[in-house]
Amino acid sequence: MEREKVIVLDFGGQYNQLVARRVRECNVYCEIYSYKTDIEKIKQLNPKGIILTGGPNSCYEEGAPTYSRQLFELGIPVLGLCYGAQLMMHVLGGKVERAQNREYGKTKVFINRKSGLFHGIGDKCSDIEGIIYDDHRHDDHETLCWMSHFDYISKIAPGFEIIAHTADCPVAAAQDLSRKLYAIQFHPEVLHTPRGKDMLYNYVRNICGCAGDWRMDSFVESSIKNIREKVGDGKVLLALSGGVDSSVAAGLLSKAIGKQLTCVFVDHGLLRKNEGDEVEAVFGPKGDFDLNFIRVNAQERYYKKLSGVLDPESKRKIIGEEFIRVFEEEAKKIGAVDYLAQGTIYPDVVESGLGGESAVIKSHHNVGGLPDFVDFKEIIEPLRDLFKDEVRQAGLELGLPERLVFRQPFPGPGLGVRIADEITADKVRIVQDADAIYRDEVDTAAKEYKTTNGKDPEWMPNQYFAALTNMRSVGVMGDERTFDYAIALRAVKTVDFMTAEACDIPFEVLQRVMSRIINEVRGVNRVFYDLTSKPPGTIEFL
Ligand code: XMP
Repeated sequence: MEREKVIVLDFGGQYNQLVARRVRECNVYCEIYSYKTDIEKIKQLNPKGIILTGGPNSCYEEGAPTYSRQLFELGIPVLGLCYGAQLMMHVLGGKVERAQNREYGKTKVFINRKSGLFHGIGDKCSDIEGIIYDDHRHDDHETLCWMSHFDYISKIAPGFEIIAHTADCPVAAAQDLSRKLYAIQFHPEVLHTPRGKDMLYNYVRNICGCAGDWRMDSFVESSIKNIREKVGDGKVLLALSGGVDSSVAAGLLSKAIGKQLTCVFVDHGLLRKNEGDEVEAVFGPKGDFDLNFIRVNAQERYYKKLSGVLDPESKRKIIGEEFIRVFEEEAKKIGAVDYLAQGTIYPDVVESGLGGESAVIKSHHNVGGLPDFVDFKEIIEPLRDLFKDEVRQAGLELGLPERLVFRQPFPGPGLGVRIADEITADKVRIVQDADAIYRDEVDTAAKEYKTTNGKDPEWMPNQYFAALTNMRSVGVMGDERTFDYAIALRAVKTVDFMTAEACDIPFEVLQRVMSRIINEVRGVNRVFYDLTSKPPGTIEFL
């Protein structure tokens, strides 16, 4: 059965993934495609709705991203947002011009004509003259929106009517009911437009007529069915890192094909404290999942390779290459497999420039370079369509422990990028122990706060860990002089991990952490808190 979907045509705006997210929150499946996608391909996709995103260009300029008129003649409802709205008008005979001033920020929007798009929206009474609001709710015609544009629609295209405006923007929204075309100048996808989600709901569910049956349990169920059909009695190999994505992929594959799945988990000795055992507890023979689990304890091997290496990039390279060596050896023991599974998720696909139009940020490979080293016929990526929080939801649905599902990001090279200078088994022990104490105290304080206040504390970091510096300094313990290492504590708030700020963790929590680390971790006599934001710092130390 064909899955009901809405597509987002990406014109290079910054909120494009967010648009797709919001549509999915309405229980409608949504995919992002480049504006360069051929019209035939779009017809083939058979979407129930098409959303045109914002973008940085001016649609009237030579060479600006555009789409042919045909798009608006398919009989499929089209919703243009910001640049998408301007483009719709431009292509269909309206006029777009540069405004005197940029309209930016939270703005009052007046809804002045009944529209399915604004069904049930209009937060507050307002006294606007000349309103033609023919709904029976005369007092409901004002709401807030997030504006960010220089260009504006100065003339709507033939067939359209204006349905909303702001003080500075004569066409905040317009519609052509007969052709089912809708244009919104502001950004309903961002939270600054408080009722934006309802507008998108109105569009996908009411205007496009989507049934809204995209749910995580149905995703899990249909994925299991698809995997079974595809794999048949074939063999599948998966590199399990213990991270969220590969763990959820493992859970899904295990439910679908059981022992036809082999997971190789390489313990490179640079995992967090007890992490290897925790992964084994979930996926190993004593866990709840039916699969072949191979744990390779490669600690010694890694430490040997890393011995004497000081340069951060060399460390990263060695850790990455060694992973491929170890995995290759294991794969050879297993022999040819039919499929290599990967935990690629939707943002990886989009970031690699395969989905939408946003610039290629970095090419992603969850298991960097593995395909070249394994004898297999095809790659399967069961999470390719999911956003991170959907992956987490799927994980919970599959019965993975919450600790694993909600764990914070952990870099592939692990503690290798959190130990300055040479990596040794003893330094790994120090940073593991200090990090475990730090996470324990932060988690406890956050939990206590939540119990009292019913929400996470303001200071709750998105990523927090301990790193080992190469500084040794003099201290005194009991009556003894010490000459030991300094631990650095890092905690950052970030949305996208591209920029970050240090968190304002309460001083008494930090003091407790300091005191415990110095008392409990042999080899440490000083604790620093890292205040550096990113940029200029990075989140990891190396
Ligand atoms: P930086 O240090 O670049 O980190 O500010 C940004 C985010 O990326 C994570 N990170 C990595 N993740 N492999 C990964 O899978 C890596 O080599 C790697 N390096 C950094 C880091 O933990 C942070 O969340």
